[in-house]
Amino acid sequence: MAIEIKEGAAVDPSALQALYEHAPWARGRTADGIRTMLAHTDYHFSAWDGPRLIGFARVLTDGIYRATLWDVVVHPDYQGRGVGEELMNRILAHPVLSRVEKFWLNTRDKFGFYQKFGFVRSEQGMFREQPGKNR
Ligand SMILES: CC(C)(COP(=O)(O)OP(=O)(O)OC[C@H]1O[C@@H](n2cnc3c(N)ncnc32)[C@H](O)[C@@H]1OP(=O)(O)O)[C@@H](O)C(=O)NCCC(=O)NCCS
Repeated sequence: MAIEIKEGAAVDPSALQALYEHAPWARGRTADGIRTMLAHTDYHFSAWDGPRLIGFARVLTDGIYRATLWDVVVHPDYQGRGVGEELMNRILAHPVLSRVEKFWLNTRDKFGFYQKFGFVRSEQGMFREQPGKNR
């Protein structure tokens, strides 16, 4: 069956919670937390094998100047088959997101993946974490 990428499709928080178990930074997120997250996310994109959620990515943005990309994840059974690339292409070709001046993202070890889509490494970033709340 062909993999389908959807923008803004209804995503079951429990299915996303299961997918997040394959993303080190998102392991342990609760279904309630994920429901809140989805409600406050500007754009999300999901990948489906029929009814099965197999990939996800989301964007927070002002729609013109800045956007941040978060939580790009493909289920291990489907990695290396172009699903991540399809998610990225859909995001970057989106009618609103394609016009955004600057995209940011955080990654620990996937620099090579994002470089394929024009992202470059930067030392300009800073962040602040809540003690005990981050991975
Ligand atoms: C990173 C991730 C989203 C890539 O998704 P994927 O579906 O496996 O990637 P694709 O098959 O679409 O690969 C697209 C291209 O990126 C390359 N690529 C994939 N992972 C890569 C990596 N870790 N480093 C460098 N290049 C990578 C592929 O070789 C492919 O290149 P090609 O077109 O020249 O062959 C996926 O491995 C994943 O979900 N990992 C676990 C969660 C994670 O770490 N997410 C990233 C958070 S910052």
